[in-house]
Amino acid sequence: MNDCADGKKSGFYLTTPIYYVNDAPHIGHAYTTIACDALARWHRMRGDDTRLLTGTDEHGQKIQQAAEKRGMKPIELCDEVVVNFRRLWEVLDISNDDFIRTTDDRHIEVTQYFFRTLLESGDIYKGSYEGWYCVPCETYVPEAQIGDERLCPDCKRPLVRMSEESYFFRLSKYQDALIEHYETHPDAIMPKVRYNEVMSFMKSGLQDLSISRTTLKWGIPVPGDERHTIYVWLDALINYISALDYPEPGGNWEKRWPDVRHIVGKDIIRFHAVIWPAILMAMNLNPPVRVFAHGWWTVEGDKMSKSKGNVVNPFEMVDVYGTDAFRYFVLREVPFGNDGDFSELGMMSRINSDLANDIGNLLNRTLQMIEKYRGGHLPPPSVFERARDVDFSLRDSAVRTLRDMDSQIDDFALDAALKTLWALIGAGNKYIDETSPWKLGRDDPDDRLDVVLRTLWEVLRLSAMLVFPFMPGTAAKIQRQLGLAGDISRERHAEWGWGNYLEPVIVKKGDVLFPRIDVVKWKEDYDARLASRNAEANPNSSPPVAKIETARLPQIEMDDFKKLEIRVARIESVQVVENAKKLYKLNLDLGFEHRVIVSSIREFFTPEGLTGKKILVLCNLKPAIFRGIESEGMLLAAEAEGERGEIISLAVVDDDFPVGARIH
Ligand code: ME8
Ligand code: MG
Repeated sequence: MNDCADGKKSGFYLTTPIYYVNDAPHIGHAYTTIACDALARWHRMRGDDTRLLTGTDEHGQKIQQAAEKRGMKPIELCDEVVVNFRRLWEVLDISNDDFIRTTDDRHIEVTQYFFRTLLESGDIYKGSYEGWYCVPCETYVPEAQIGDERLCPDCKRPLVRMSEESYFFRLSKYQDALIEHYETHPDAIMPKVRYNEVMSFMKSGLQDLSISRTTLKWGIPVPGDERHTIYVWLDALINYISALDYPEPGGNWEKRWPDVRHIVGKDIIRFHAVIWPAILMAMNLNPPVRVFAHGWWTVEGDKMSKSKGNVVNPFEMVDVYGTDAFRYFVLREVPFGNDGDFSELGMMSRINSDLANDIGNLLNRTLQMIEKYRGGHLPPPSVFERARDVDFSLRDSAVRTLRDMDSQIDDFALDAALKTLWALIGAGNKYIDETSPWKLGRDDPDDRLDVVLRTLWEVLRLSAMLVFPFMPGTAAKIQRQLGLAGDISRERHAEWGWGNYLEPVIVKKGDVLFPRIDVVKWKEDYDARLASRNAEANPNSSPPVAKIETARLPQIEMDDFKKLEIRVARIESVQVVENAKKLYKLNLDLGFEHRVIVSSIREFFTPEGLTGKKILVLCNLKPAIFRGIESEGMLLAAEAEGERGEIISLAVVDDDFPVGARIH
C-alpha cells in the first residue's frame, strides 16, 4: 500500500461482481456498477491510481441448459449475450478499465493455477460429497437451511439429492485465522450489519467446501482430472486477481493486491468475505482490504420477478429519463448499504425537484444574469477584493463541501455525499435570493454585482467537478456552459481553489440541463409502458377482460336512425370545468359553425390528448346545462367496465376527413 503525503491511499482497485452473462440486466446489476463507477471517478479526481474492473460469470449449469435449448454451444451463447452487459455499461457511462469474462484464457489459466497450487499444498483434497443441491442456484444447501418441503431457501425451487466424488477446499482450517483477521480489521467488511453477520456465521463453524463437480460439463476442467470441473463460485471469485495478471512477476497484481475493494450485493457477502479470503490466505496472498455489501432493491414495495413483470430494465430507464437522472436517482435515493425501493414516481419527483429545480435553476439563473448584465463576460477573481461576509460564507461552504464529500466517499456513503453537495447548491440558490442580483443590475452603487456573479460561478465550477463522478455527462455540460474548455474528467481536487482560475471567461448558456417533467404526460406514458411490460411478462394471457353491457334493445326502423344528426367535429380546445372533477368543456369546429359541449371524460384524457382529434358528435340532442355551461350536443364514445373501473374509447374519424360531414 503506498501512502501519499496527505496520508491517503494512492492505490484504489475497485471491483463489481461479475454478472451471470445470460441474465437480462436489471436495476440490481446496474446499481452495483453505477456505485462503483461513481467511487472510481471520485478517486481518479482525488488523484488516486484507480482501476475499475467488471465482467461476466459465464460457466455453470444454467448457461449449459440455456445453450442446449437453443441448439448452441455454451460459448456461442456467451459470446452472443455478453454484449448485453457491454452495451449496458456504455449506456450507463461506466468507466471500467477492464472487462473480464470467465471464459477468457487469461482467467482459465489462473483458475487452474490456483487449483494446482492448493492441491500441492494439501489445502485441496479429494473426497466424496452428498447433499441437497439447487440446480438454478448452483449450490448445495446446508442441511440446517432445508425445511420439510426441501426447497431452496433462496429461489424456493425444489432441491435434488446429489452425491459425487469431489475435491474439497479446507475452509475449516482457516476459520480461526479469518476470525482473527476480521477482529483486527473491523473495516474489512462494511456495513457493520454485514460484519456482524459474517462473524457470527464463522463462529458457528466452517466446513470444508466442495469445489469440483463431475455433473457439470460447462466449467473449467480440474487440471489433471478432467472428469471434474471447478465449482463455478471458486472460478468466479478468482476473476478479481486473474484480471491483474496474477501470478506473473511484475504483473499488475503486485502493485494492486490486496489494496482492493469488492462491492457486492448483500446476497453474496459470504462468498466474498469468507470463502474468498480463505482461498487467498491458502495461496499466501492477503485478504482484500474491504468488502462492501449494498442492499436489495424492491420495486414499488414488491420483490422483482419476471412473472410479475416488474423487473426494472435499466435500458428503458435510460431511454425515458436519461443516463444521469437514473444514476443520480439510484445513488441518492437509498443510503448505500441499506435496502431500497424503486418507483418511477419517486424518480420523476426527484428529477423535478433536485435536478430541474435545484441544480438546473442555479446554473440557469447564474448564466442568465452574467449574459444579461455583463454580456456573457465573467468578472475576474480580483473582484473578490470587495467580497463581504455573505460571499465569504458561501466560499467557506464550498471549501467545506469538497472536504466533507471526500470523507463521506471514504465511507462509501454516496447518498450522503450527494446530500452534502445539494446543500451547497441550495446555499447557492439562497444566496441569489438574498443578494437579489437583478436589483443590483439596475442600481449598484457599491459595485456588488461583479462579486455576486463571480461567487455564483465559482460555486458552479466546483459543483461541476463534484457532481462529475455521479453524473458525468451533466458535469461536462455545466462545465461548457460555464465557459470552461477541456475535459472535465481530468480535473483534480488538489488543483481546485476558490478564485484560482485566472483566464478570461465568456459563459455560454445552453440547453436546460433537466427539462421539467409534465406530470400528466408522464403518467400517461408510465401507464402505457406498464401495460406493455405486463403484456410482455404474460404473453399468453389475453388483455384484461372488460365487462360490457349485453342487454339488447328493441329493433328500430331506418327512419328512427335518420332522426339522429351525427357529424364529424374537430376538438379545437379543451377547458376544465371548475369544481367539477369529471367535466371538460370542449370547443368544437363543425366547419359551418362552432359549438360547445360539456362532457364527463376528464378522468380519461388530458386536454393535450384531446385537442385536434376528429370525433363524432350527436348534434341535435336538446341542449342541457352543466355547472352553468350550455352543452349543445354529445360526443360518441364506447364504454365498458374495466378491471379498475370504467373505460372509454372515443369514436374518432381519420385526421384528413372534412369536419361537418354527416353519418348516414
Ligand atoms: O451473483 N437489488 O451474479 P448476479 C440489488 N455471478 N442488487 C441486486 C439485485 C437487487 N434486486 N439483484 C441482483 C452473481 N443484485 C455472481 C457473482 S462475483 C465473483 C459472482 C446484485 O448477476 C447482486 O447482489 O446474480 C450481485 O451483487 C449482482 O447484482 C450480480 O448478481
Ligand atoms: Mg444473483
